[in-house]
Amino acid sequence: MKRRKFPKDFLWGVATSSHQVDGNNKNSDWWAWEQEKGRIANNDKSGLACNHWNLFENDIELMNQLGIKQYRFSVEWARIQTGSKQFDKSVLVRYKNMLSCLIENNIEPLVTLQHFTLPLWISKMGGWENPKIIDYFARYVHEVSSSLGANVKYWVTINEPLLVVAASYIAGIMPPGKKQLKLIVNPIRNMLLSHGKAYEILHENSKKRTMVGVANHITVYQSDKWYHPVENYLTRVVNQLMNWTFIDTIRTGIFEMKFPFQFHIKEACPELKGTQDFIGINYYTREYVKFLLKDPYVELITKGHKNKRSDMNQEIYPEGFATVLDQVNKKCAGLDILITENGVSDAEDSRREKFIRDHLNILHHKLSQGLPIKSYNHWSLMDNFEWHEGFRQRFGLFKTDYKTQERIPRKSASVYSDIIKNGLV
Ligand code: BGC
Repeated sequence: MKRRKFPKDFLWGVATSSHQVDGNNKNSDWWAWEQEKGRIANNDKSGLACNHWNLFENDIELMNQLGIKQYRFSVEWARIQTGSKQFDKSVLVRYKNMLSCLIENNIEPLVTLQHFTLPLWISKMGGWENPKIIDYFARYVHEVSSSLGANVKYWVTINEPLLVVAASYIAGIMPPGKKQLKLIVNPIRNMLLSHGKAYEILHENSKKRTMVGVANHITVYQSDKWYHPVENYLTRVVNQLMNWTFIDTIRTGIFEMKFPFQFHIKEACPELKGTQDFIGINYYTREYVKFLLKDPYVELITKGHKNKRSDMNQEIYPEGFATVLDQVNKKCAGLDILITENGVSDAEDSRREKFIRDHLNILHHKLSQGLPIKSYNHWSLMDNFEWHEGFRQRFGLFKTDYKTQERIPRKSASVYSDIIKNGLV
């Protein structure tokens, strides 16, 4: 098969998030959550995780081996803001050094400000449910961008807002572990308003051209039974709610969320209109929507042949990547697209090479059709703490030996670096 060439300035990258790799994130809601029995598979605790906090400079070597030009990572709110008006300056100094190190190595930082975790003191006040969080987030973003802004062009304000709220308030698998569909409305509104303020602050504090966006988890949803009118309808509802609430609110300045017999919110928020400079896409899989008679009225299920599933039982469905890219491009014409995450849990590394090639072939096809896709960040640089799944899921191009903190390249690391070095898939 003829190999396909990528543009020279295409930004190849990898992604991580602080709680999953840094270790010792003690003042966060997640740290407290992990101490409760039964929350995490095998009762794993993030502990030292990959000790990336201390090994960052060594891990840059892994990035250089891959040849990446962009690194998506997150700064940790819980480490930085220790009280409503208290900031740990030494933590900001550490991040400053990390950023300098990336720049010296010609790696463009893509910094996420909030990736699932909250400072424990904020979560004790109700976390995203409490509108006070908007102001706390604004103070945090102000502090971070005034000290780190000079070295950062790309910012993600919030990672996967709908997914984290659904996991925390519907599925109950993330803190605070509640389980009621209706509860998702207020956290989403507060996240949107927090994003809007952060957008303004990041632009005010920036010393150079800043690009701000959200990393949106976009899934392909299909009806479990094609002939079932209720499931067909619910599939449209779930698709709109989970995939497009954030993007559409920011696009139109109208916050709308609806689920039949549960809620229908429609509020004007003109201040949010246009507060994104790029669209971040985290693409993983397709899910089927099944009607349930009780709250939350839908169940999301995985189908597809065993060989086409990851270790985490996610369907490997590269075709859906094309659908998602087309949908985003249609809705948000003119905005740059950054692939902020895409990856597979595959401890044996038997499916990752094909996963990468198939997704990149689709991405290339979409580039050739003129879609403004600027970067691709593979999830993840190395195996890390996979939230309620603990350490048993392995998404890394490098295998992490948690006992020795060694990083061992998987075959797919050399596949990815070959693609990067030749610009060919
Ligand atoms: C999240 C990551 C997570 C990855 C793999 C994404 O939804 O942003 O934190 O590790 O999926 O499950």
